[in-house]
Amino acid sequence: MSCFALIPAAGSGSRMGAATPKQYLDLLGKPLIWHTVRALAAVPEIERVCVVISPGDEWWDCYDWSEFPRLQVLRCGGATRAESVLNGLRVATVADDDWALVHDAARPCLEPEHVSAMIDELRDDAVGGILAVPVADTLKRAAVGDRIARTEPRDGLWQAQTPQMFRRGELIAALASFMGPDITDEASAIEKQGLAPQLVMGSPWNLKVTYPQDLRLAALILQGR
Ligand code: C5P
Repeated sequence: MSCFALIPAAGSGSRMGAATPKQYLDLLGKPLIWHTVRALAAVPEIERVCVVISPGDEWWDCYDWSEFPRLQVLRCGGATRAESVLNGLRVATVADDDWALVHDAARPCLEPEHVSAMIDELRDDAVGGILAVPVADTLKRAAVGDRIARTEPRDGLWQAQTPQMFRRGELIAALASFMGPDITDEASAIEKQGLAPQLVMGSPWNLKVTYPQDLRLAALILQGR
């Protein structure tokens, strides 16, 4: 069994409100994505780390990546995250039955030990699975004018994180068949095939940097290690 990581990093990060895409924003003196690459490169089971960037990316080559010898850069990002992942999976030089661990560039606080534990749990699984955490807050359904329509039961609800781990060939087939606006992660495409990916307990530290305050939180988490 071989594992490789695929990092979609072709987004513009418009919700950050910065001119630089968020994967290149400064985080403790390095671009945010450097921390993401470092976490995955430190996982002993992962043989190759593939990064999908936009064909017009002007930032990647501004940095020295030579400390990561198992890194492959794929300049084939698409219009959506799912397209970037599908394009990257198609061109990555890996085998169809290899496990792909797809991980957002925007999650720089991933812990390598967590990824190893996930691989250990899923390596013999027929489907694959994702890191996720049970929903902690009370959930409200909004109605007109942002009035509360009702409280949704949170029992059995999980927040999906990444990595999401599926066989490369199966993930290509699922994404190619079901590409569309409701495919917001890899598991949603696999689910459309009638399969049930495994939920693997993630960590609240594995936050996704979306808004400016998330960058400050990520810095605090990394500094605390
Ligand atoms: O925007 P969001 O945080 O949901 O993006 C999640 C990940 O998907 C980010 O790492 C982003 O760079 C990536 N992405 C991509 N191609 C796109 C849009 C997003 O690789 N067209």
